[in-house]
Amino acid sequence: MEDRQFTTMFMAVLVGLVGLTIVILVIANIIYKGDAMESDLRVQKAVAERIKPMGGVYVGSVPADVAAPASTAAAPVQQVAAADLSGEQVYQQVCAACHTAGVLNAPKPGDTAAWEPRLAKGIDTIYANSINGIGAMPAKGGRADMSDDAIKAAVDYMLK
Ligand code: HEC
Repeated sequence: MEDRQFTTMFMAVLVGLVGLTIVILVIANIIYKGDAMESDLRVQKAVAERIKPMGGVYVGSVPADVAAPASTAAAPVQQVAAADLSGEQVYQQVCAACHTAGVLNAPKPGDTAAWEPRLAKGIDTIYANSINGIGAMPAKGGRADMSDDAIKAAVDYMLK
């Protein structure tokens, strides 16, 4: 009789505890759900802020027609200005960002060891690669608005 009483008591306590656990689970779920959406956005923003790159690669200014498509008056002026640039000016404005410091392993002007194997391909290949892009270098160094001749002049300046 003692045993029976104990077992009944024990079962009652066990059932009570299981019930309590379920209640706590349900409550916890409700509380968490209410918070999850909001904190998720905040967390996402904070993470994006924390892992954003420290700096970007400057590949020259944005072409006028992309930066200000509406102002048709300003665009032709810039095109003319770009066409008038000397090889040195094109180099300073566009190419220097990568080539002066050797960003992304860009061959530096005057670095004979870097240029010799490239020059072996012939100057026409080098012109074509500068205009069409090669490896990590974007076509025309990222300045699609520049003429082929301007790029060639910059190459000549680099190789001087
Ligand atoms: C975004 C950085 C960047 C800019 C801007 C840039 N270059 Fe480069 N350039 C590179 C990299 C990187 C390489 C090496 C690519 C490779 O060999 O994989 C390279 C390679 C070259 C080569 C060698 C091509 C060959 O055939 O081996 C020439 C010539 C060159 N660049 C000219 C220019 C000129 C001219 C400009 C400006 C109009 C310019 N680059 C702007 C990154 C750049």
